[in-house]
Amino acid sequence: MTQDELKQAVAQAAADYVAANAPEGSIIGVGTGSTANFFIDALAPFKNKYRGAVASSEATRKRLEGHGITVFDLNDVDTIPVYVDGADEVDHGLNMIKGGGGALTREKIVAAVAQTFVCIADGSKLVTTMGQFPLPVEVIPMARAHVARELAKLGGTPVLREGFVTDNGNLILDVKGLRIADPKGLEAQINQITGVVTNGLFAVRPANVLLLGTTDGVRTIL
Ligand code: 5RP
Repeated sequence: MTQDELKQAVAQAAADYVAANAPEGSIIGVGTGSTANFFIDALAPFKNKYRGAVASSEATRKRLEGHGITVFDLNDVDTIPVYVDGADEVDHGLNMIKGGGGALTREKIVAAVAQTFVCIADGSKLVTTMGQFPLPVEVIPMARAHVARELAKLGGTPVLREGFVTDNGNLILDVKGLRIADPKGLEAQINQITGVVTNGLFAVRPANVLLLGTTDGVRTIL
């Protein structure tokens, strides 16, 4: 199976999970990226079952609306029973690195509201220790150099994502060379640096369910 076929399989499994677990008429949280895009396509045939969705990026909002799915402002929504999103790396404790697509801050906000976070990923994303994938950090533009110096003190090598501006008007530093032994601690430590909006570690609020695409089928890891 190709990587895209694995992504499609987990996207379909996530649509089935949502159908079984989100009450009719509820609002679904939807992530960003190629796996999340497959999920949007798998969700579309059932769109009348739900009131609509909250999007974690402008790209996702456009794709949802393209399928005729109503997109709500998060401020108008009290509860999100299920949030479905991809990851760049996920460990066995369901901590993740996210933000390869640059949507980490909105993803983290939607995840904070959601009751259940369902991570969908092909098997290549499962790791024992995170850090091989450069950790994205969203920064306020005027703080870029300061934050880069502070990240270097933590042992990483920050690289500005060239030509990229987030949906929030900020920049991304991709931090290479971190070996992340304490994901929750590092997430909190980086978020303490003045000028950081948020970082792509999702450990304080990890996933609740991982649907992992393998050549033997979709594995559910809790
Ligand atoms: C976007 C993300 C994505 O979930 C992550 O980059 C995975 O993307 P893909 O499904 O394309 O592999 O965090 O900000």
